[in-house]
Amino acid sequence: MPDTEAAASASRRGLPIPRVSPAVLACAVSRLLDLAEGRQEGHALRVAHVALATTRSLALSREERAGVLFGAVLHDLGAAHAGRVLPREQLGREDQVFQQAPLQLPHVVASRYPPHVGPSVRRALEEHAVAGADLAQRFGAPRQAVAAILGHHEHWDGTGYPQGRRGTDTEPVARIVGMADVVESYLALHGNPLAARQGLNDFLLQQRGNWFDPSLADILIEATRADLFWWDLHATESASLLLAEAGLVDQKPLDLDALEAAAAALAEAVDARTGHLHGYGAAAARLADGIARRAGVDGERARLVYLAGLLHDIGALALSGRLLFKVDVLTVEELEQMQRHPTVARDLLETLPGMGEIARWIGQHHERVDGRGYPDGLEGDALALEARILALADVYCALRSDRPYRRALGRADALDVIRGLSGTHLDPALVHTFLRATDLHEPLSE
Ligand SMILES: [Fe+2]
Ligand SMILES: [Fe+2]
Ligand SMILES: [Fe+2]
Repeated sequence: MPDTEAAASASRRGLPIPRVSPAVLACAVSRLLDLAEGRQEGHALRVAHVALATTRSLALSREERAGVLFGAVLHDLGAAHAGRVLPREQLGREDQVFQQAPLQLPHVVASRYPPHVGPSVRRALEEHAVAGADLAQRFGAPRQAVAAILGHHEHWDGTGYPQGRRGTDTEPVARIVGMADVVESYLALHGNPLAARQGLNDFLLQQRGNWFDPSLADILIEATRADLFWWDLHATESASLLLAEAGLVDQKPLDLDALEAAAAALAEAVDARTGHLHGYGAAAARLADGIARRAGVDGERARLVYLAGLLHDIGALALSGRLLFKVDVLTVEELEQMQRHPTVARDLLETLPGMGEIARWIGQHHERVDGRGYPDGLEGDALALEARILALADVYCALRSDRPYRRALGRADALDVIRGLSGTHLDPALVHTFLRATDLHEPLSE
């Protein structure tokens, strides 16, 4: 069935039809990545603005321009992933490491840590570009974006990483995005815009031919003379300007297969960020899909439940890593912060065309049928069936995995807990269905 016909038939049956393009999704997700890496919100979008300003007078191909946008917004997609090499007491603190990265070389950042931590800090930094390029590829980012991410910390003079490439050995898109990342980080350090504007000129001249490609630095020096550059820099709340500039406004929406692939890449970033088992998000999604089908949800809707499963904890990207890895009981404020993650995800996904209903399910994945869940204390039928399915899948997968404060439960014990939660936390009819579906009871081993 052609796309439009399939969409029309789906809409007749009341199915939500996500109509989100890869660029729109990448820009939206970048807001969460900023928070995960301890930056001010909008960092990645501002990097995109600086990068695109550098491309204006260059004869770049359409692909290169798109690569600059995707590379800029997703440049640190691999940070959480690479942060996993940090020793236990530093887990969840990778934001502090990556915060320093664009302006400092890995060995300098590493030197600020105790000797037993330093080498892993260096390794995390050196690996994040590789991990990010890999995730971006699976996200469906264009080839040029993957190159930009891989090379975004290379320097013109060969002092960068991960490969220590020199000059034009680094792809143009990577040189552009890398310079933009350093420049935005420099500007973020100078709170006062006027001081930043004056300082930036000197900084660009100083790094011209050192970290930065001289001809690109010259273009950026010229571009930053215009007031418009500075106005637009602070107007990046909406990504639409950037998309227009990158020629991506009319980009085709992702079909469901491609959207699932992109969501699976994001689920891996979330797993890394939350310290969950690698593959946790995918397992919860598969289980939710399985329960949905057993509960009589039709195949197409079950696929959307699967998609929601992949994205359900995306709001956790915005949480402080110290909370996520805390072994002790959380304080009231910490708990409140933690409990915001479904709302953060809902608010973000809601802005994406055709994702409203999926956003609502995700926003409800910590609600309970007895009304004692969060964030809204919704009860019974006020809860979407899809949200109740996500809750059951998430709780069961969580019980079957190690957590900082306890070991994973075996199958029989976990099923006992699920039985005990029927009618309070979990939907009794779904629990009944799930208990009988014995082939779904090992979701993490697939
Ligand atoms: Fe980076
Ligand atoms: Fe950055
Ligand atoms: Fe959650």
